[in-house]
Formats: sequence, structure tokens, C-alpha cells
Amino acid sequence: MIKNISVIKGDGIGPEVIKQTIKVLNSIAIKYGHDFHYKNALAGSKAIEKFGSPMPEETINNCLKSDAVLFGCIGDPKYDHNPIGMRPEDGLLKLRKKMNLYCNIRPIFVFPELYRSPIKKELLNEVDFVIYRELTGGIYFGKKGRCKNGEKAYDYCIYSKTEIEKIGEKAFKAALLRKKKVTLVDKANVLETSRLWREVIQKISLDYPDIDLDFLYIDNASMQIIMNPKRFDIILTDNMFGDILSDESSVLTGSLGLLPSASIGDYKSMFEPIHGSYPQAKGKNIANPLGCILSGSMMLEYFGMYKEKNLLDEAVKNSIEKKICTPDIINSKLSSTTEEVGNYIKNYIINQ
Ligand code: IPM
Ligand code: MN
Repeated sequence: MIKNISVIKGDGIGPEVIKQTIKVLNSIAIKYGHDFHYKNALAGSKAIEKFGSPMPEETINNCLKSDAVLFGCIGDPKYDHNPIGMRPEDGLLKLRKKMNLYCNIRPIFVFPELYRSPIKKELLNEVDFVIYRELTGGIYFGKKGRCKNGEKAYDYCIYSKTEIEKIGEKAFKAALLRKKKVTLVDKANVLETSRLWREVIQKISLDYPDIDLDFLYIDNASMQIIMNPKRFDIILTDNMFGDILSDESSVLTGSLGLLPSASIGDYKSMFEPIHGSYPQAKGKNIANPLGCILSGSMMLEYFGMYKEKNLLDEAVKNSIEKKICTPDIINSKLSSTTEEVGNYIKNYIINQ
């Protein structure tokens, strides 16, 4: 199969983790006779410097024309105080919106060989859930601004029935292939948008009699993720709550650096690790490439390349079993570099 992939390396450790991911994807391509064409595009701080915008039109067009986007990470402390729309993060939000990537999928899993969490081990066996986070609406995209001479600020949270239905359908379909449970996380005891979410999701659930639907308020859900993470299968939630719960959930796995994500729209898709640009680690060859590599694996699945995805996942699992790991997930005296982890996984694939 031929696939055109837009690649946004981004800031900080982005270029390093992308480099390993492409290396690994190329080994899959060789093994299975695929042709992956990569086209680099600028976003984040480099795009601000070159084009005066964190998400130039050229990049958006490049991404819209591709079969999928592979995204490293963006964010640079140098631009944290830029005006609205000019921060590197604004570039990411703009791309999500322009590509209509309304469904963000964040799997949370624990490698049994790797116990790095501050949470008790017995609570973590068999943790395996997926966050379905709405990604192009809610408080992130509502009208925002200042009034009263800058002394008051507002961010509107708005959701339409259609927005909720679209991600809701995807979450229920995913649950059918898993443990058949959807938990809607909201704040329906306070927020009107949450009450609309409940109405819409309850209605969708009538079409899925095999799926067990339950509801949790965000405050309670935050507690349950730590106290009883095994209770979850699919967590369905809005943009803001999903952002917060995904970082919290990463604590179960032991490192934010391990976790991948897929952002899916009706026609377009993007794959990116959950972690940020980690500027302190830039250029040190210590960043964990697994979040990005596993995002590549989600991309293979999206392409319908299931055997390929399984082999890549197996290679990652093997690297962890053999303790070929970056210092965020292993004692730093025994750790491997970003490059060594990438090479190990590549070689595992080639030698299968
Ligand atoms: C994420 C990130 C982004 C978000 C930031 C960088 C805008 O935290 O993907 O979780 O809040 O969505
Ligand atoms: Mn986040």
C-alpha cells in the first residue's frame, strides 16, 4: 500500500522521537512491502520564526492532502507569553480544528514488567481503558476574551447535540470491540453542557443494548482512576475533562512518555504522543520514543494494517521485557538512549 504521511516534528524532543518512529515505520514498510512517503511540515516555534504563525496555511494544506499526519509535539517556553493565537500550542489547536479531528483516542495500559507508578501495584494489574476525548469543541474553542479593561476574562463552553453524537457513536462502537462498557464523565450536577451530554449519550445507548453505560462526575472520576482504575473500559468525555484525565491516567502507566494517541475525524486523522515538548531533554538522546512509536502503531491500525500493528506492538513489548528503556522508565544506570530504543525495535521487526 502507498501512504502519504505528513510529518510535523515540532519542538523540543519532537524531532528525536519522530526520527525513531519513522525508522520503525520504515522497517514495517520493508517487511510488508508498503510505500510510506513522508512530507515534513513546520508548526510550533519553528513556524513562528519562519512564517510568523504557529500553524501556517502551507502546513494545514499539506496535512489535509495526506493520508495521515504524524505529529511529534509542540511548545517552547520562549513563546509562552505570545498573544492569543500566536503560541505554539495555538497551532496545534488550529490544526485539530481545521482537520476536524473531533475524536481523540488515548489508550491507557500498563506493562506488567514495568512497575513505575506511585500507585499500589495490586491496583494496576489488568488496567486497560481508553479515553475518548472530544477534541474540537467545548471550552477550548468557545468565545474567549477580556472585558472591564482586562480585569474580567471569560471562556465559553458550548456543545451542540451533533458534536456529542459524533464522538458518542465512536465511543460505543469501540466499546463493542472491548469490554462493552462506556463511562460518561461530566459535571452534570452543575453544568448545562454536561446535562446535554447525558441526554444525547443516553439516547445513543438505546441503540447499543449490549453496552453497559454509566455516569461519573469529573471529581469522582478523578478519584476512581486512582482508587479503582480497573473499573473503566471506555471513558467518554469532553475536551477539557479529557485533557485532565489523560495526564492523570498516565500516572498509572508510570510515564507520560509511553502513551500514544490518535485524533480522528470523518476523513482525516493525526497521530501524536500525549507528552509535551519536554524542552529540558531536547538534544540529550534521553526522551522516551515509545509514545510516538505507539502512535505510529495506531496509525497502522487506522490504515487497516493489523498484522503490521501487531508486530510493532510486539516489538515494543519485547523492548520493555528486555529492559531496553529510556531513563524515565528504568533505573538511569541501566537505561538506553532514545536512539538505542528505536534501533532495538527496528531490528526486532526486521528479524521476525
Ligand atoms: C494535549 C495537550 C494540548 C491540549 C495542549 C498542548 C494545547 O495538553 O494534547 O493534551 O490541551 O489539548
Ligand atoms: Mn494535555
